[in-house]
Amino acid sequence: FNLQKHNTLAVPAVADWFVSITNDTELREALAWAGERSLPLLVLGGGSNLVLRDDFHGLVIHIRSQGKILAAENEQYVWLQVAAGENWHQLVEYTLAEGLFGLENLSLIPGSVGAAPIQNIGAYGVELCDVFAELSAMEIASGLSVTFTAESCHFGYRDSIFKNALNGKYIITQVTLKLSREPRLVLDYPALREELKAIPMDQLTPEKVSEAVIAIRRSKLPDPANMPNAGSFFKNPIVDGPEYQRLIAAYPDLVAYPQADGHFKLAAAWLIDRAGWRGRQLAGAAVHEYQALVLTNPQRLPGSAVLALAGHIVQSVEEQFGVTLEMEPRIYP
Ligand code: EPU
Repeated sequence: FNLQKHNTLAVPAVADWFVSITNDTELREALAWAGERSLPLLVLGGGSNLVLRDDFHGLVIHIRSQGKILAAENEQYVWLQVAAGENWHQLVEYTLAEGLFGLENLSLIPGSVGAAPIQNIGAYGVELCDVFAELSAMEIASGLSVTFTAESCHFGYRDSIFKNALNGKYIITQVTLKLSREPRLVLDYPALREELKAIPMDQLTPEKVSEAVIAIRRSKLPDPANMPNAGSFFKNPIVDGPEYQRLIAAYPDLVAYPQADGHFKLAAAWLIDRAGWRGRQLAGAAVHEYQALVLTNPQRLPGSAVLALAGHIVQSVEEQFGVTLEMEPRIYP
């Protein structure tokens, strides 16, 4: 089974087995089937945050469950329970149309609802954890469903317990979001304020914020449908105060964001750009022209080509700045 259409890097990797599931019963059956055969598993949502390094000798489970349920409400909030297979951006549009707010800054992020908590998706000043209530996940070993609160998910910057202690142990089946009936605009991100500057403050709405986010993303980030990519390929590295002082002394135009705990988050795009990689190609894989953090795969080559380019970038940034970049997408197998 060729996975090329199931990963946004358009890597032509082949899987031995593939199944689409639409509900918990089908998922439990698929897990039992793979368990009896001791097959490795790869859980696929939108396929927008993974690199297939090689063919996959196991079972790929494509999560396609659909559905949105109003789980609870009060005067201020609505708790919306969403199936893992729903498309993230379609959910954002749905909530805006229903007058439920909180997701507007997260417009146009590729991928599925079930994948969103794994890397705690974030953009333009909002992270999933800001609107997260709880999730249901199926334990792979037992087929039992478990509820995780925000606290038990251990959310961090592009991080959660599902990338760490529980990596490969649970499959997210439903996510409950706490959405506001009243608009609460988050306009901290400089590029977002810039995009909205022509609109008077009292005329700003969540819909306008969503439109602005979409416009910024379209101007910088390639659409995977036309140019295969997996979004940001590296995390923005976090360094301590002395390390930041050393860097800013040497590079006064370094882009960095102070963190609440005294650390600094560096713009990896700036480091990669400054190291001379923006727009460059290497053995077929490329660094995007308008956003150096995004690697593209224009020739739809195997994942190894993209990973080779990534390796050169890591080495070069390390040599020039003494900062180690960490890859953001998950690598399989
Ligand atoms: N910059 C450069 N060169 C470039 C691109 C950017 O020097 O080629 C500089 C810009 O001047 C800007 C800074 O880098 O000041 C940051 O760039 P940008 O605002 O585009 O954001 P980012 O930090 O590169 C992060 C997320 C994106 C998210 C945006 C907006 C990560 C790894 N990436 O990118 O998320 O959309 O902020 O919030 O945190 C993703 O995770 O796949 C993703 C696209």
